[in-house]
Amino acid sequence: MSRAARLMLAGVAVAVVALAIGMIAGGRAFPRIIPGLPDSGAVVRWGLPLSKLLMDVFGVLTVGLLLMAAMLLPSDKGVLGRSALHYVKAASWTALSWAGAAFLAIVFGAAESVGRTVPQIADGAILSSYATQTTQGVALTLVVLFGVAIALFSRGAITAGAAAGLLAFAMVTLLPAPLTGHTSSSPNHDLATSAVSLHLLALALWVGGLLVLAAHALRRQPQLEVAAARFSTMAVWCYAGVGLSGLFSLVARLGAVSDLWTSEYGMLAVAKIVAFVLLGYVGYWHRQRTLVQLGAGRPRAFTRLAGGETLLMLATVGLAVALSRTPPPEFTVPADRAFELLGFPLPEEITLGNVFSLWWFDLFFAVVAAVLAGLYGAGVLRLRRRGDAWFWGRTASWFIGVALLVFATQSGLARYAQVMFDVHMIEHMTLSMVVPIFLVLGGPVTLALRALKPAARRGDRGPREWITTILHSRFTKVVTHPAVATSIFIGSTYALYFTPLFESAMQEHLGHIWMTLHFLISGSLFFWVIIGVDPGPNRLPYFGRLLMLFVTMPFHAFFGIALMMMGTVIASGWYEQLGRTWGDTLLQTQRDGGAIAWGFGEIPTLIVLLAIAVQWYQDDDRQARRADRRADRAGAGDPELDSYNAYLARLNRADKSE
Ligand code: HEM
Repeated sequence: MSRAARLMLAGVAVAVVALAIGMIAGGRAFPRIIPGLPDSGAVVRWGLPLSKLLMDVFGVLTVGLLLMAAMLLPSDKGVLGRSALHYVKAASWTALSWAGAAFLAIVFGAAESVGRTVPQIADGAILSSYATQTTQGVALTLVVLFGVAIALFSRGAITAGAAAGLLAFAMVTLLPAPLTGHTSSSPNHDLATSAVSLHLLALALWVGGLLVLAAHALRRQPQLEVAAARFSTMAVWCYAGVGLSGLFSLVARLGAVSDLWTSEYGMLAVAKIVAFVLLGYVGYWHRQRTLVQLGAGRPRAFTRLAGGETLLMLATVGLAVALSRTPPPEFTVPADRAFELLGFPLPEEITLGNVFSLWWFDLFFAVVAAVLAGLYGAGVLRLRRRGDAWFWGRTASWFIGVALLVFATQSGLARYAQVMFDVHMIEHMTLSMVVPIFLVLGGPVTLALRALKPAARRGDRGPREWITTILHSRFTKVVTHPAVATSIFIGSTYALYFTPLFESAMQEHLGHIWMTLHFLISGSLFFWVIIGVDPGPNRLPYFGRLLMLFVTMPFHAFFGIALMMMGTVIASGWYEQLGRTWGDTLLQTQRDGGAIAWGFGEIPTLIVLLAIAVQWYQDDDRQARRADRRADRAGAGDPELDSYNAYLARLNRADKSE
C-alpha cells in the first residue's frame, strides 16, 4: 500500500477515534435507555455519526482533489497535466463514496427518526418517506444525487475549466446536510445557517487542499512547490474564515459564554478551538520553515509536517461530527411564532428612526460586502503602488455600491423587509437597480485585469487568466447577450412573485440568501451590459443600450400595476404567521409595494441615462481625437495638406489679431 494511502487510512482511523471520544464526552455514546420509549439501538447510534463522518471526509477529499487539479497544479493552456488528470479521476471515486456514505446516513437517519433498528425498517416505506419528506432526508438525498453526478462528470473532465466547474458543484454539495442539523433548530437560525455554510466552504478548501497536497508530497509528484505556494496563500484566508465562522456558529448556539465550560457541547467546541490554534501554529511553521526548504528543493520537512497536520485536521473533523450530534445547551428565547420564523422579535411599528437604528447583523452579506470592498481596495492600492492611475470616480462609485449593499442587508430596512411587503419591495429595488449601477460603474473587471499579475508560467492559469477565460467563455457570451440579460432581469421578477417561489424563499434563510443574491446578480448583469465600463463580449452601440433600458420600463410598470390590482395577498402564509398588529393591512402594504415597484424605477433610470450620456460623449470625444491623430499621422509629409493647414493657421492668427 502506498504511503499516501496509509496516511489517508491513518487519518480516517484518527477521525473515528476522535468521534468516539467526542460522543462519549458529549454523552451521546451510552444514553440512558428508558424502557417503553423507542430506541433504535447501538448500530444506528454509531452508524449515523460514522456515516456523517465519512460524508465529511469524502466530501472534503473530493473538493481537495478537484482544487488541486483545477487551481493548485499548473495547467497548459487550460488542459490538465498528468497529475491533475489523475486527481480528477480519483475525485470520481471519492464522490461516489461520498454519495454512498450519504445513502448510509439516510438509512440510519430514517431508523433513528422512528426509533427503530435498521432491520425493522427494511420494508423501505419509512426509508422513502424519510428521504423525500423530511428536511434532513431530502438534504441527504440531494448529496447522493449530486455525489453520483460529480462522479460521472469527473470521468470525462480533461480541462481546467471542467475541473473548476466540478469543484464549484462539489462545494455546493457540501452544504445541504449540515444545514439541516442543529442549524435549522438553533434559536438564531439565520446566523447559524450562514456561519456553518461559510465554515464548511472554508474548511473544505483548507482541509481538502492539504490532504491532497500531503498525498502529492508523499507520492513525490512534480510541481509540489508551485502547488504548495498557491495553497499557502489560499490557506491563510481559509484559516481566518474557519475560525470566524466557527465562532459565529458558536454564538448562534450558546446562550452565554459560561456554556463553554458548563456544557458538553461547549467543552467539545473548546477542544475544537484548541485544535484550531494548534493548526494555526503548524501553518505558521510551514510559512516560516518548511515552504522555504521546499522552495530550495528539500521537501522532507514539508512532507512530514503536512502528514502530521492531516491527522490533526481529520481528528478535528471527527470532533466536529460529535459536536453536531451533541445537543447545544438550552437557552430561553421568546416563545412566539414571529421569533421562531425571523430569529429576532417582531419589531415595533416602523418609523424612519427605526429603519436607521434597528440594525440586524447578517453574517453572509457582511462577508460578501467585506470581500467586495477588500478585493477592490487591494486592487486600487496595488495600482497606486505601481504608480498606475485609476480614476477616483470609479472607486467612489464602487464603495457607494458596497455601502448601499450593507444598508440594504444589515439595517432596519432588512429587518422590516421580512415583515412588510412594501419595505421588502424597497429592498428588492435597491438590490437589483441601485446597488448594481454603482458597482458596474466601478469597473471591477478592468481593475482586476490591470492589478493582477500574469501567471508565472506561459500557458498556465492564475487568477488573471481565469478572469479572461471566463470573460471569453460561451457562458458569458450567452448570459451577457442583451436579450438574455433583459429576460433574466424582468422574467425572474414575475417568476418570483407570481408563483409560490417568493413564499418559500421567505420561509427559509437559505431561500432568502438565494433571493437576495439573485436580485444583486441579475441586476448587475443587466446594468453591466448597459453601462458597464469593463470589456465584455456583447457591447451594444449607445442607441441600443437606451433601447434596452426603455424596453424594461413598461414591464416594470405593468408588474407594479398588477401588484396594485391584486385582490389576494402574496405569501400570505408567511405574513399571517408573523402576526403583525401595527401598520397597514397585508393587502394595503402589497399595493404600496406595487406602487414602489412602479415608481422606484425612475431614479435608477435617470442615473443610467446620465451615465450613458457621459459615456457616449467621452467615446465620441475619444474617437474624434483618435481620428485627428490618424489624420495628423496620415497628413504628416503630405505637402498639399500641410499647406492647407498652414493657410488655416494663418486665417486663425488673422482673426485673433483683429
Ligand atoms: C475556532 C475554531 C472552531 C469553532 C469554534 C468551530 C465550531 C463549529 C460549530 C459550532 C459547528 C456546528 C456544529 C453543529 O452542527 O452544532 C461546526 C461544524 C463543523 N466544524 Fe467547526 N469549528 C472550529 C474549527 C474547525 C476546524 C479547525 C475544523 C476542521 C479542521 C472544523 C470542522 C467542522 C466540521 C466538519 C463541521 C460540520 C460537522 C457536521 O455537521 O457534519 N471546525 N464547527
